[in-house]
Amino acid sequence: MINPSGSFSFDLVIFGATGDLSLRKLLPALYLRDADGQLNDDARIFAVARSEHGDDEFRAVATKALQQHLPASEISAERMQRFTRRIRYITVDVEDPAGYARLNAALDGDCDRVLVFYLAMAPRFFGDVCRNLAKAGLNRPAARVVLEKPIGHDLASAQAINQAVGAVFSEDQIFRIDHYLGKETVQNLMALRFANALFEPIWHRGVIDHVQVTVAEKIGVEGRAGYYDHAGALRDMVQNHLLQLLCLVAMEPPNAFNADAVRDEKLKVLQALCPITDRAVTERTVRGQYTAGAVDGVAVPGYATEVGDPSTMTETFVVVKADVQTWRWAGVPFYLRTGKRLPQRRSEIVVQFRPVPHLIFPGATRDVVPNRLVIRVQPDEGISLHMMTKVPGPGGMRLRQAPLNLSFAETFQGRQPDAYERLLMDVVRGNPMLFMRGDEVETAWRWIEPILAGWNMQGDAPKTYTAGSWGPSAAIGLIERDGRTWHEDMR
Ligand code: BG6
Repeated sequence: MINPSGSFSFDLVIFGATGDLSLRKLLPALYLRDADGQLNDDARIFAVARSEHGDDEFRAVATKALQQHLPASEISAERMQRFTRRIRYITVDVEDPAGYARLNAALDGDCDRVLVFYLAMAPRFFGDVCRNLAKAGLNRPAARVVLEKPIGHDLASAQAINQAVGAVFSEDQIFRIDHYLGKETVQNLMALRFANALFEPIWHRGVIDHVQVTVAEKIGVEGRAGYYDHAGALRDMVQNHLLQLLCLVAMEPPNAFNADAVRDEKLKVLQALCPITDRAVTERTVRGQYTAGAVDGVAVPGYATEVGDPSTMTETFVVVKADVQTWRWAGVPFYLRTGKRLPQRRSEIVVQFRPVPHLIFPGATRDVVPNRLVIRVQPDEGISLHMMTKVPGPGGMRLRQAPLNLSFAETFQGRQPDAYERLLMDVVRGNPMLFMRGDEVETAWRWIEPILAGWNMQGDAPKTYTAGSWGPSAAIGLIERDGRTWHEDMR
């Protein structure tokens, strides 16, 4: 499977190959891995979808998508030809066994060869596809299945998916994607915490005041109204991406860097989340929906207009104040915030330390602010530690906060790989560490469900915010009631 130069032989089958995810993310990621020499000459890609296409016709579609989604500097005729040559197109209606027989014949029967099924499609098809793969004898020991999020829309549907897929593939063959785990800075969070002795002694309630996790987006629903209007920000972002980030900040050091050791520790964090029920839903959450406004000076419609439903109650913004009930974190709130049509695209984790216990600088009370560790997930990936420093020159002891900055782009030259590049190759390698285990997904839903139930009970509409603002004023009120403020970008 792997040759000494670190490249791989495998067959990758993309179900939903003509869809947005495949064209925008998966094929570009595979192209870049190929360009880096990670794909052996015999690695093959089988594009599967319901529509009828010939191989060449689909290769032309793929070429166009690659030209559109990759930087021009990455594209060359030679690379394009090498990559698209690997692709074959097979028409499969996921409910029709005939298509799977065609797929089986095309794959030919080398049972030891790594075989990856990537289900880039709505989760309601996961069970059927897996059952049909099994009927066609394709659930071989060397096969793996990749499930795109969302894994269900609540606990029961997630359990049903886990059961249906688990009836065909063993847990170590199932790779549930959360692409945030493939982002470089997210992996760096583990390096920061567990490859530096510096942080562990201060990583607890005695020194840390609170944690903020923000995933802000400028985009709206981008033609995904059909999915998004049934999901909303809590299901779409918090249940997976934001909770995974919280887990990496809050988990205990695993005893080894392997899939189960890391995932066991993340699971314990999810299990320790204090349930948010009844009145706490009002006190600890804010949900918002954008109205017409402007982002980067460009006028954009409101969410209801975008999805064509004036009475939609779907939230496009959410804040949740979460508590992790452990000795390490008791009394340290984790403020989770995400939204669409915000003024910046910015994902970050802010660890806010406690103030100094006794201030010796006369007259500096207002200038001295507590330290903050900011982990910038995107853009401009890096880590900065905001410290108090003396302003140079005469004029007494004037103090000001300044960042100690580690910019990954400056420190490590070259392109930052996309999360899907890392994750796809991890599937081929058979390393599930950066994928969600079934019990993690279910435990996350168990925590999310009462919030959804609380909102349903309240029955009121989400609070509105103007597109291009930082969400409804209640989001600011929630943190300010605790005597805290949202971190502002200070780079
Ligand atoms: C996806 C969500 O999982 O993540 C989208 O479904 C969201 O709604 C996207 O836009 C954000 O990902 P990224 O990598 O652009 O931050």
